[in-house]
Amino acid sequence: MSKPSASKVFRFGGDFAEPCISRAKGSYIYDDGGRAILDFTSGQMSSVLGHGHPEIVAVIHDMAANLDHLHGGFLSDPVIAFADALTEMLPAGLDRVLPLSTGGESNEAALRMAKTYTGGFEVVAFDRSWHGMTSGAAAATYSGGRRGHGPTLPGVLTLPTPHAYRSPFNRDGDYDWRAEFEFGWQMIDRQSTGQLAAVIVEPILSSGGIIELPDGYLAALRDKAHERGMLLILDEAQTGMGRTGDNFAFQRDGVTPDILTLSKTLGAGLPLSATITSAAIEQDCHDKGFLFYTTHAADPLPAAVGAKVVEIVLRDRLAERAGELGGYLKEQLNALQQRHPVIGDVRGRGLLQGVEIVSDRGSKTPAPEIGMAISRRCLELGACLNISRPSSAGIFRIAPPLTVSRDEIDSAMAIFDSALGDCGKV
Ligand SMILES: Cc1ncc(COP(=O)(O)O)c(C=O)c1O
Repeated sequence: MSKPSASKVFRFGGDFAEPCISRAKGSYIYDDGGRAILDFTSGQMSSVLGHGHPEIVAVIHDMAANLDHLHGGFLSDPVIAFADALTEMLPAGLDRVLPLSTGGESNEAALRMAKTYTGGFEVVAFDRSWHGMTSGAAAATYSGGRRGHGPTLPGVLTLPTPHAYRSPFNRDGDYDWRAEFEFGWQMIDRQSTGQLAAVIVEPILSSGGIIELPDGYLAALRDKAHERGMLLILDEAQTGMGRTGDNFAFQRDGVTPDILTLSKTLGAGLPLSATITSAAIEQDCHDKGFLFYTTHAADPLPAAVGAKVVEIVLRDRLAERAGELGGYLKEQLNALQQRHPVIGDVRGRGLLQGVEIVSDRGSKTPAPEIGMAISRRCLELGACLNISRPSSAGIFRIAPPLTVSRDEIDSAMAIFDSALGDCGKV
């Protein structure tokens, strides 16, 4: 088999890592020489149940044999059961489910719903956001991929990400996020043509660098949106299905969005996403001729997987587990910060933790090359610990499956410690 560097696969996001992966099970992936590597990115931040979960395998076998794919005009029992299970898990107001395949698609649908419902077209997004690669989602994505392919959709306005560690509104540790927030909205109001439709945000920005919203932020955001007749869209691609210690990250804040999008973790590694909203918004969109017809919308096989993921996350109390193990993981990371000056900041919630690498703690100078060297060394030593935004910042995103064991966390942290020792000198 050809090695990643020699393959004929188009490089869709930088170079591929060296080992070619041949197998995955539980918290491990295995290269073609049989070497085990701890997967602390849950694949592409998705495999919350670990790899090859036997109940998911059984569902896939059964559905592949008996009911795989249908014309979009048909409903089937797995799709109805999936929508029931998901809406039961969610608060009232999130009562209608549009099943889709990818995160970008789910956000594209959410934005189209908001535009249809409000009659506006302007969208507000954070300046470190990631919502996907399709044109509407990409126009609202600011943490990468904006250059080199012509104009983005008009009407997307940015709000400053409340990044406590780096915000200019943080003066000597005293972070006035409300001042930053008000300033951001003044800018939006000046730029708007008066046709605002939606605010779309991640409750914890992941690709943007594991940035949590301050307490009270989400409620303030909802209020700003509603005062202007806009809908609040929350993108829980990475934070949904228990990862942060709650089933959904918005539950910490007690703020139910008008539209919720789920992907990645919803299919636990399979391509499944959903756009969920209220019965009233669904009815209004339907009355206005809303169309979002895709080949795999409402496919029974991924829907059956989604229903099983919901069942397992609730039955095995995986959110609680993520909260407990996330606390344990954070203790280990804080201890590493004490020993390695190259760690500038540790942040995150549950089993979604971020570690920011800097060359100088005082000036907080980003050190992406050091971060990449540490990440490569981790891989050599047997753990996949991934850097987000490698070209401009060295921020590790640490997100193992929610089924990870304490021993596996200890092993990954021992590897991280060694790699920091080997490559983290400034
Ligand atoms: C928060 C968030 N939303 C949306 C997406 C896009 O999902 P997909 O790549 O499945 O289209 C991503 C992907 O990284 C994401 O992190």
